[in-house]
Amino acid sequence: MAEPILKWVGGKRQLLQELHSRFPISYEKYHEPFIGGGAVFFDLEPSEGTINDLNRRLISFYEVIRDHPEQLIEENHRHEYEEEYYYDARDRFNELHKLDERSLEERVEEASLMLYLNRTGYNGLYRENQSGGFNVPFGRHTNPDFIRERQVRKASDILDDIEIYNRDFDYLVDCVDEGDLVYFDPPYEPVSQTADFTQYQSDGFDKDDQRRLRDLAVKLSQNGVYVVLSNSPPVGELYEDVSEFTIEVVDAARMVNSDADNRDDVAEVIITNVPADRQRQQNLGDYS
Ligand SMILES: C[S@@+](CC[C@H](N)C(=O)[O-])C[C@H]1O[C@@H](n2cnc3c(N)ncnc32)[C@H](O)[C@@H]1O
Repeated sequence: MAEPILKWVGGKRQLLQELHSRFPISYEKYHEPFIGGGAVFFDLEPSEGTINDLNRRLISFYEVIRDHPEQLIEENHRHEYEEEYYYDARDRFNELHKLDERSLEERVEEASLMLYLNRTGYNGLYRENQSGGFNVPFGRHTNPDFIRERQVRKASDILDDIEIYNRDFDYLVDCVDEGDLVYFDPPYEPVSQTADFTQYQSDGFDKDDQRRLRDLAVKLSQNGVYVVLSNSPPVGELYEDVSEFTIEVVDAARMVNSDADNRDDVAEVIITNVPADRQRQQNLGDYS
């Protein structure tokens, strides 16, 4: 049960128990096509499978952790927790993003900056503007840990036999087999106009993407793949006519607002084709 390395919008820590209890008792490989901060993946510590995300910097970060953990730790020691340093680091992070090709040193530097900015930025979140520039301001923290030596090594071990992709979620078509488990945590369908939390990166995820995802989930299910998906409740409607999927709404205390005091108890839908008699269901401990 490892911790996620980065804090990410839509992080699933509050929902772990609800999700785990619906996972099948046994399965072959594990796939997470919208990895984000990977709260579920790191908690599960699967030995085989794939992770994916459309965010290139995030995926390069996981590749560096898997393949070059010691270089990353060394680079992490260079940073300072200081406001002017933070803004220079942010500029450098955005400069590196503009390069078409990056050397290994530049990729390690970028991964290290990503971790540093995530630990020292305002409320520790990741946000990009329309043109892909990371734009989170400096944050006030008490002794932020941006070296994370133990966590980097642990994450590297977990990622050791995991294939990492930077594609649209449909990469799955080519690498999922019968008996595998797929957990989908796509960007949220906004509940209202003011609740648009889908700006993880400059590419949006619209209604057509939600439908495309539903069609893929149905196809996987027909091929004997276990599917679990979480999202905001309106997405449940898309699955109402698919007989093998059950749709359940659960309460999730999700912290999405930039104001740390403004936590909302929000409902979340969990959609799955895992038959009730194959679900773990037992109480798996307190994840709160
Ligand atoms: C809700 S977040 C995942 C949060 C994650 N479960 C966690 O615990 O941190 C959704 C992720 O989907 C990614 N994404 C958006 N569109 C995508 C697409 N078409 N294919 C793959 N990933 C996509 C975003 O970059 C974002 O990281």
